[in-house]
Amino acid sequence: MGVLELLRWRAPNPLILLLLLIQWNQQIPHTIDRQFVEVFSGVGEVSRAFRDVGRRGTSIDLCLDGAFDLTRPSAFGLVLNEILRCKPGSTVLMAPDCRSLSRMSRHTSGRTYLSPLGNQGYLFVKIGNILSARTALLAFLCSFCGLRWVIEQPEGTFLPQLPRYQWLFGVLKVFATTMYMGVFGSGSPKKHRLLSNDPAFLEKIHDKAGFMSRVDQAKCDTKLVHRYIDKNGKRRCTGLKKELKESANYPPAFGDFIASIAVEMEAVPVPMNMHLDESFPIDLTDLELFRRFCLPIGDPWKDVPGIKCFFWQSGYPTNHTRIDFPQVRQLVSCGIALGLPMGCCGVFRPCKIYASA
Ligand SMILES: C[S@@+](CC[C@H](N)C(=O)[O-])C[C@H]1O[C@@H](n2cnc3c(N)ncnc32)[C@H](O)[C@@H]1O
Repeated sequence: MGVLELLRWRAPNPLILLLLLIQWNQQIPHTIDRQFVEVFSGVGEVSRAFRDVGRRGTSIDLCLDGAFDLTRPSAFGLVLNEILRCKPGSTVLMAPDCRSLSRMSRHTSGRTYLSPLGNQGYLFVKIGNILSARTALLAFLCSFCGLRWVIEQPEGTFLPQLPRYQWLFGVLKVFATTMYMGVFGSGSPKKHRLLSNDPAFLEKIHDKAGFMSRVDQAKCDTKLVHRYIDKNGKRRCTGLKKELKESANYPPAFGDFIASIAVEMEAVPVPMNMHLDESFPIDLTDLELFRRFCLPIGDPWKDVPGIKCFFWQSGYPTNHTRIDFPQVRQLVSCGIALGLPMGCCGVFRPCKIYASA
């Protein structure tokens, strides 16, 4: 991976810098031996299914280890590195927490088409924005690395309306479909929306689970909402917290199905679906390209605050000092990317990775 390719792909400057810092970090492994990554893996049925068919990969979720809290810069750096370690054709599944994005929380989250980021005074909305924006960057990196990625959300999610997804749809061709988890034996029929860079992959899922008859839906007996008529005679519904939370967990059959089609398509190249920007000179070094085209950094992706930590030492973006390359080098040599504690910025160091042997 070089700066020229990243520029041609229209990668955001902060991501280019992050990837350079990760590449130069000698304390983390860089071997390319991953065949899947499951981000927000929860009960990990997809990872289990991949491992059952002998694939090696990583599952990342807050519930596995606090070090995997993706609001932490260190965890974000770790996932970026896990994606860089994937073999081309590998599958990356991401199911970001939908609490602040679902239709049901719209009244509290305050997300609207005019203000998609919602009421950021609420922590759950702010965290939802951070996790979603980071997931968009991960999806971009997957496409760049020739990996198949899928983002799963409940139907009605506000995720595609977030500004970082609007950006993503502008630089990559992204495809969407819907499916019923009830087809795979989930307690409720629950409709999900999937985004991906590979239409053929989505088509296989849609063929299997894109339709569920009313009769079959009625056979799933777990209700996710309580419907009632209030004292003014108005129809209302309230989400059932426990049932909604459990409905996010994939049934084993879904894991098996995803692993089987991912393995089937491993050797099929992932469609690139984008036009490269060929206007950059090809005879410059990474350093020269970075100096000439990535500075000043510009949009610091403030909604991905982890990126800020990499600029801490140079004062960016608080006072908008221009970073030049020696400062970037200084950042690396002074240890930010090498795992030394950085006040509130978190520590970027290798931590326990859940992978098959
Ligand atoms: C929609 S659920 C995905 C569930 C998963 N698909 C499964 O089969 O169990 C979202 C997941 O995100 C995880 N999560 C929430 N906040 C997180 C964070 N800050 N960092 C990492 N994972 C987080 C939760 O633990 C939860 O498992």
